[in-house]
Parts: sequence; structure tokens; C-alpha cells
Amino acid sequence: MDPLLQNIETYKKEIESFIAGDARSAEEFRIKYLGTKGIVKSLMGEMKNIPADNRKEFGRLMNDLKIFAETKYESFRETISSQHQFAGDQMDFSLPGDPATPGSRHPITLMRNRIVSIFQRLGFSVADGPEIEDDWHNFTALNISENHPARDMQDTFYIQHQMEGHTDWLLRTHTSNVQIREMEKGKLPIRIICPGRVYRNETISARSHCFFHQVEGLYVDEHVSFADLKQTLYFFAQEMYGKEIKPRFRPSYFPFTEPSAEMDITCFICGGKGCRICKQTGWVEILGCGMVHPKVLENCGIDSNKYTGFAFGMGVERPAMLLYGVNDIRLFSENDVRFLKQFTSMA
Ligand code: DAH
Repeated sequence: MDPLLQNIETYKKEIESFIAGDARSAEEFRIKYLGTKGIVKSLMGEMKNIPADNRKEFGRLMNDLKIFAETKYESFRETISSQHQFAGDQMDFSLPGDPATPGSRHPITLMRNRIVSIFQRLGFSVADGPEIEDDWHNFTALNISENHPARDMQDTFYIQHQMEGHTDWLLRTHTSNVQIREMEKGKLPIRIICPGRVYRNETISARSHCFFHQVEGLYVDEHVSFADLKQTLYFFAQEMYGKEIKPRFRPSYFPFTEPSAEMDITCFICGGKGCRICKQTGWVEILGCGMVHPKVLENCGIDSNKYTGFAFGMGVERPAMLLYGVNDIRLFSENDVRFLKQFTSMA
């Protein structure tokens, strides 16, 4: 076989195995085989040296080789440009980015923080307790004994399960369990504020829910008096509802405090004139409080002759509803972003 014809065969194989993964190597391919000084052109230049008999055959093979190289080059360009297009689609820098919507604090968290921070400024520190509680810490130690009618004041979810060797487990009905747990630790004085979730077996409606939030407070030391209670809670109410409010303490009953009181303030909506919120009375109830019952101190191993204390408890949902203008308690637990994002600007 004519060595030139053999050359054509070799080049064809070379072209066949050439791989061009990017524009640069495709261009190298073009210059090497199809360029003005490229292989195809220079082989064509050999035509005149081919014996006349073989010229036709050489011409045909050369033509094939040229078409073969051109087709190969086209296919390189096609794959490369489609890759480009693909990458381009993915990175169109002119398109607007995905919006990063800022999150927001939950209104209950906002209100809880607001309450807690007022007491923190007075030197109270935050304490925490379990939501799954035993009968002792939720009831008995708080002077609510087995057949005490006060048990009916709070419809309880009981847990039918044995844990830690006993069966009297329940979902705490109030945050007062944290009082007991802190006093049992035996480190005095105690000045704590305890925010948390509580549970009661109540029908769910716009006004009440089977779980909600409370903030409990406890101060135990020597010489703690009812005057301390009044002053502390008056300060709180002014910080919370405005300097112009006036307080009122009404005698009440809680098994764990003696004496017990309910604290009202002049309605912060109408200023005391009477409106829908205060049911035309001019007063709104904001919390329950009292001097810690000596029996409760003793139940926790605290000497009630030496120590006295005051305690209080308040709900979080109600002030949140009043101060944020929310008319249905269920909104707090439905997690509808249209509701939640209305609190975005609040810290
Ligand atoms: N535990 C009470 C309740 O859930 C609230 C309460 C009232 C807490 C008086 C107290 C208190 O610590 O002294 O209704």
C-alpha cells in the first residue's frame, strides 16, 4: 500500500480517538487537522506526487478524511456549547435571588421575655422544671392534699404509665412545681422566676386551651414581708403596663399561700373608665400571689420560723392577647406564618 494512503488511515484513527472536552482542545483539534497549515491541507498538497493511477483513490480517501474531521469537530462544538448553555442556565446572575425571609420570635416568647426581663432587673434568676411531673411536686407539697377541693380547680391530665417506680405522673397544671423543686434544693435565699408551659384538661375555644404558659415567681429569705410582695409586683405592673396604672390587691385563696391575693390593675386600655376589656369595671386581674404557706416551706425542709417568702403566678397568653391585640388563643399554637410574621419587627 502506498505509504501516503497508509498515512490517511493512521490519521483517521487518530481523529477518531481524539477527545475534546472544552473549547480549547476543540480549537487545537481544528488547527491540527483542519487549519490552513493543518494535516488535511498538507496531505492534499501531496496530490501532485501521487501516481496518476492512484490519484482518484487518494482524492476520495482525502475527501472522506476531511469530512470525517469536520464532522468530528462539529460534534465537539455541539457538546461544548450545550454544556455552556447548561451552566449558563444554572447561573444567570441577572435573575433575582431566592428571598431569605427573616424569621420572627413567637409572640408568646416575646411576652415571656418581657415579663422575665423585668424580674431579672430586680435580681430574680430564671429556673426551670419538668412538664411531666409527679403528684408531690404539682399538688401535695403545695398543700393540695389527696382530697383537697383545690384539685378540682385544675383539670389534670394524668399519665397512665409507671415510671421511676410509681404511677402518679401527670402533666403539670401550673409552674408552681418549680417552687417546690427549687426549695427542695435547700439553698437559701431563693429569688427565682420560672416561665414554662402548663396543661389542663379544658375544652379548646377562642378563650381557653388545653396548654398555655405561665410565669411563676418565688422569693424566700429571712424577713420577707407582704410589703415586699406588693412593692415588687407594683414595680412589675408599672414596667409592664405603664407608669400610670394603679394596683389593687384583693383577698383570694390558694392552698400554697397564706394570705393569698389577686392583683388587679386599673385597665390599661381605657385607663379605668370602663371598656369591653375590663368588662366596664375599670380593673383587670393580672396575677395570683401570696405569702408562701408555712406548710409548703416545711414540706421542702425549710424552717418556717426563720424564713418567709412570697410567690406569684401569672398567665402569658392573656397579656399577649391584650397587648398584641390577638383575639383567639388558638392562633398561638397553629403556627400560621401569616400570623407569626406580624411579629417580625419585635425583638
Ligand atoms: N398556680 C396558680 C395557678 O395556676 C397561680 C399562682 C397563684 C401561683 C398564687 C403562685 C401564687 O405562686 O402564689 O392558678
